[in-house]
Formats: sequence, structure tokens, C-alpha cells
Amino acid sequence: MLSPSFLAFGLLVGHITAATTKYSVSLDDTWHVPVLLGKPPQSLSMIFDTGAGSLAAHSALLPANESSGGPAYDPAKSSTATLIEGDTYTNSYASGHTGSGVVYNDTVSVGNLKLRMAFEVATSNNGVNNDASEPSGGDFGMSFAAAGMSDDYHVPTFLQAVQSKLDSFLFTVDYDKASSQGNVDFGFIDQTRYTGKIGYLPINAKYFWGVNFTGYAVGNGALHARPWTSVVDTGTSTTHVPPDVVKAYCSQVSGGTYDTGSLTCQYPCGGPLPDFVIGVGTHRAAITEVYLKSSSGSSSGSCVSKLQGKEGNSVIFGQSFIQAQFMVFDHANARVGFADKDGA
Ligand SMILES: *[C@@H]1O[C@H](CO)[C@@H](O)[C@H](O)[C@H]1NC(C)=O
Ligand SMILES: *[C@@H]1O[C@H](CO)[C@@H](O)[C@H](O)[C@H]1NC(C)=O
Ligand SMILES: *[C@@H]1O[C@H](CO)[C@@H](O)[C@H](O)[C@H]1NC(C)=O
Repeated sequence: MLSPSFLAFGLLVGHITAATTKYSVSLDDTWHVPVLLGKPPQSLSMIFDTGAGSLAAHSALLPANESSGGPAYDPAKSSTATLIEGDTYTNSYASGHTGSGVVYNDTVSVGNLKLRMAFEVATSNNGVNNDASEPSGGDFGMSFAAAGMSDDYHVPTFLQAVQSKLDSFLFTVDYDKASSQGNVDFGFIDQTRYTGKIGYLPINAKYFWGVNFTGYAVGNGALHARPWTSVVDTGTSTTHVPPDVVKAYCSQVSGGTYDTGSLTCQYPCGGPLPDFVIGVGTHRAAITEVYLKSSSGSSSGSCVSKLQGKEGNSVIFGQSFIQAQFMVFDHANARVGFADKDGA
């Protein structure tokens, strides 16, 4: 249902673009999307999170010891806010952050879209991720097949709320590490954002943007068939791959040493590092040197590559590598697309 204010906006939705910005105070791969909540609009920078379903706002209802002190949604200052009586929620994130609170219905604006929907408003959390130097306005959940929000999942998520307004039920993510600016496009694929073709992998799970990569190559070398399962998660900064893949990559890095304890590849800080190429079906997705190098060196002149190993069947393909690619989250066809882009 469109709110009157949305109709007054007179926008033909279907194509929505929202800018994103990289925060780089303490974490070098954290991307936020600007969101306006309520009337008059309250501006929050939220983590655009394909790894979670809920839109959960940092709020003025939090006690001081559980607040980052940064921008927070205050329903008392919004003339359009309505509390949904009796509704509560509890979320816990892989980062260790937990949050709980109440549900309000209010206007939500992202890019050129404005709609009215219910979302979660935090009244308590465990303090994890309340980094005052990098205050987060909360979590903008965009997981695949989001089940819904609140404790009994009956409140539609942003993805569910926006579906009927999109030409195509998909969104794309294009983060530009060099400029620290990026864009999320909803409902369309902008062909100027990538080069070559988009390779797709089908979703392997009901509730996540999970995919099975088909293999890897180093530089221009042959693709090794070596499947692994990964969750494509814009809400996590790091990326992990199976340890044997890191080891194989590292063996082709000049001066590289694979560390069996930390499952990382150490290399002489100056580089060079060859591309790490991921098998996306028969398509290849290149992670180039700039995304593999660490931003800080050690005194010994040895650096640790961002290609990190982790045991287990499902690992995270996070922001560190997502920014190396043009990414398509194609809900309509239950698949994730990967394309190379200029300058990457
Ligand atoms: C939020 O408000 C809109 C507009 O009044 C309404 O269509 C929608 O159902 C409400 N959402 C919930 C979960 O109550
Ligand atoms: C904040 O303070 C309250 C009251 O003292 C306490 O119950 C709560 O655990 C504290 N929160 C954190 C994250 O320490
Ligand atoms: C992904 O791989 C798992 C085995 O690791 C398999 O069970 C599943 O069917 C695969 N899914 C897709 C979509 O390829």
C-alpha cells in the first residue's frame, strides 16, 4: 500500500538507485546506505546487509550504555510513526551483536523510493558493534527469501515491501573501493556498471544468498574444479575460502608463505599478487590485486593477503571481495550474478 506522501512524490518506481558510502575509520571494508526514516526525515547510515532479513534501526529508545551515540531513529520526533502494539523482535548476528526491541510503522526512504512500512526499532542490545568512531544506524536486511520480521515473522521485510514496485525483482551492488562511493540499484541492471558478461550461480539455500562456486584459478592459469559453498554477504567485511585454495594460491605468489596456523598467505608487502579467479559455473570472476592486498603492513615487511582460509562447508563471500565485482542479487530467478568491472 502506498502512502499518500509517496503518491504525491509522483515517482514511477521500478528503477531505484541508492548511493552507498564506505566507512573506513576502523574497518576498511564496511559499506553503509543512507536511509531516511519518518517525518520530518531522520537520516541514518545503515549497513546494507544481504546476510540478514530485517530492517532494524538504531534508536533513541536505547539506554545510553547500549547506544553508539551516533544518529538514531526517534519515533517520538516523527509525526508519521505508529507503534505496532504488542510486536517485539530479537535478532542475533554472526558478528556477535544481538538486538531486540519494538516495531513501528513509518516512512522509509532509500534513494528515490519512499514507502511506508513496518520496521524494527531497537530498545536493547549487547553493545557489540556500538563503535562510536563508526556509528551504525542499524541493519538494512536484504537476505534472499526473507521470511519476514519480528518475533513471529509476520511483518514484511523491505524486500517483500518493495517487490511489487520493481520492474524486475532484483537489486545490484556496485561498490567502488577507490572512491569509497557505490550504488545499489533496485529493479534493473545498469549495463554501464560492468564489463564483459554476468555469470550466474543458482541459490543453494532457502533463506540466504548462498551459492556453490565451481573452482578457482590463479592469474591466467587453468581453472581447477574445486567446488565450495559460500554465502554472499554484504554485511560481513571479510571473505573466506577453503584453506587448500589459499595454499594453492599462495604457492604461486612470489615470496608467498602459507601460514598453517592462521590459514593465510603472507607475502612481501610490495607485491605483486596475481589475480584470484573464482569459477562461477563456466564464467570467471576475477579478484584483482588491490582487493587482495592488506591495507597495512607489518614491520617485517611481510603482509597478509585478504584471501583467508576457513574450514567448513559454508563460508562468507564478504565486502572485501564483493567490491571487486558488480553483483546481481536476482530474486526473481533465485540466482546471484558476478561481473568484472573497470578499474577492478
Ligand atoms: C504499515 O502501514 C501501511 C500503510 O498504512 C500498511 O499498509 C501496512 O500494512 C502497515 N504495516 C504493518 C505491518 O502493519
Ligand atoms: C546497560 O545497563 C543496564 C542497567 O545497568 C544493564 O542491565 C545492561 O546489561 C547494560 N548493557 C550493556 C550492553 O552492558
Ligand atoms: C551445492 O552443493 C551442495 C553440496 O555441497 C549440494 O547438496 C547442492 O545441491 C548444491 N546446490 C546447488 C544449487 O548447486
